[in-house]
Amino acid sequence: MYKSEQLALSLKHLIETGTWKLHEKLPSLRQQAETSGFSLITVMNAYQELEAQGLIYSKEKLGYFVADNPLQTALAKKVVLNEKIEINSLVFRYLKSIQSEKIVPLGSAFPNSQLLYSPKLMQTLAQQAKHRISYEQTPSLPPGNYELRKQIAQRYCMQGIPTDPSDIVITSGGLDALNLSLKAMTQMGDYILLQETIFYGAWQAAENLGLKVITIPEHPEHGLDLEAFKKAITSYPIKVCLLMLNSHNPIGFTVSEDIKFELAKLLHEHEIYLIEDDVYEELYYDQKKPLSMKYYDQQNLVLHCSSFSKTLGAGFRVGWVYAGKFSEHIQHLQLMSTISVNSFIQNALADYLTHRHYEKHLKNLRNTLKRLKNQYYQYLIKKLPEDCQVSYYPSGYFLWITLPQHIDSSRIYEKMILNDVGVAPSILFYRKNKKQNHIRINCSFEMNDEMINKIDLLIAQISER
Ligand SMILES: Cc1ncc(COP(=O)(O)O)c(C=O)c1O
Repeated sequence: MYKSEQLALSLKHLIETGTWKLHEKLPSLRQQAETSGFSLITVMNAYQELEAQGLIYSKEKLGYFVADNPLQTALAKKVVLNEKIEINSLVFRYLKSIQSEKIVPLGSAFPNSQLLYSPKLMQTLAQQAKHRISYEQTPSLPPGNYELRKQIAQRYCMQGIPTDPSDIVITSGGLDALNLSLKAMTQMGDYILLQETIFYGAWQAAENLGLKVITIPEHPEHGLDLEAFKKAITSYPIKVCLLMLNSHNPIGFTVSEDIKFELAKLLHEHEIYLIEDDVYEELYYDQKKPLSMKYYDQQNLVLHCSSFSKTLGAGFRVGWVYAGKFSEHIQHLQLMSTISVNSFIQNALADYLTHRHYEKHLKNLRNTLKRLKNQYYQYLIKKLPEDCQVSYYPSGYFLWITLPQHIDSSRIYEKMILNDVGVAPSILFYRKNKKQNHIRINCSFEMNDEMINKIDLLIAQISER
C-alpha cells in the first residue's frame, strides 16, 4: 500500500467515526505533514484521494472540509434528541393496572416472591425483631448501616474492584439510587444519554429532573452501539450517561468485556460520568459474574447502582450506590428527603450477609431462573407464529418478544388485561411511536396449568392479527 493510501485510510476512519464532524475544517496540508510525519506531497495525495471518494471537499484558499457522507448521515440519524419526555402518567396507569393480585404477573418487573425471602433470611428477621437495638435509627442514617456497607464493599473487592465502605451509600432500592445519583450530577436542562430501549425508571427520572435526553439504539449483535455512542458524545454536551450493560431490562443482553473496556476509554477521554444501573448483576447463568463498569473505572467516573430487590425481595426497598466522591452530595439529598432507609431491614440484611447465606441462596435462585426461562422460551418458540422472534439471553428472568411490525403491543396488553393477564408492552421502554411491536414477559413463575392457559391466551391474541 502506498503511503498516501495508508494516510487516507486512517483519515477516513476519523471521518466515519465522527471524530471529524460534518463541515469541520481538516488540518492544513502543512499541519498534517508535521503531525503525521509524511511528506507534503503524500498528504496532498491522501487529501485528493479522500476528495475523489466524496468524503471531503475543498474551498479555494480555505482548505479541506468534511463532506456530507452516507456513513456520517446514517450515524447521525441513530442519535436522537428527546427534549420533552412524558412517561410518568403512562407508567403510573400501567403499574396500577397490573397491581391487583388477580392479575397474572407476566408483565411484572419483580421476580416471583416465592423464590426470594429465603428461609434463613426470614429466621434472621425474626431473631432481630426481638431486639430493641435493631430499630435504632442513628447507626442507619446516611450513608447507612456500616456492617451492611462493609459486606457490600467486600463483594466489590471479590470482583477485583477495590472498595471502601465509605464509597457506598445505602438507598431505598435501586430506583432511589438512580434518582439520587442523577439528581446529584445534573441540573435542569442538562443533556444526558440513555439507551433507546431502557427501563422506564430512567425515563421517569429524566422527566422529573427536566433533562434533555439523547438516545442511541441498541447494537443488534453487541447490545451497545459504540459508534453511535461516540457520535452522540461528540455531537452533544452530554454530562452523564445512564446505561444498563448487564442483563439489560427489557431486552436481556449483557455487553461484552471488550466493549466495556472501550466504553471506559471513551468516558475517560471525554470526561463523561456514567451511572450504571446494575440491579440484575447477580442473576447471570454462566460460571463467571459479568464485570461492572466500575472495574474499568480508573478516574472515578462511574456511579454503580444496584439493589437486593431482584435477589432477596423488592419489598425490603434496600439498594445502594457506589458513589465514591459523590457520597457526601447524595447523603445531603437523602437527609432532605427520606432521611434514612429502614433501620431494622438494614440490620437484618447486614446480619444475613455476614453469615454467608447469600451465596447459597443466589446459586439456587440462578438455577431456578435458568430452568424457568428455558421452559418459557422453548414453549414460546414452538407455539408462536413463525414471524415472531423471542430473544434469549442467559441471565435474568425476562423474555423479549418481537412481533411482526404491524402489530401494536399496546393493543395486545389491553386485550390481555381484560382477561386478567399483565404483559409489558414496548411503549413503556421505548419513546417513539414506531417500533412498538415488542412485549416483555416475566418468566420467574412456575409453568403450571393455569400459567400455560394464560400463555396460550397470549399466543392466541398475537396469532389473531
Ligand atoms: C433496570 C431496573 N433498574 C432499577 C430498578 C429498580 O429497582 P428497585 O426495586 O431496587 O428500586 C428496576 C426494577 O424493576 C429495574 O428493572
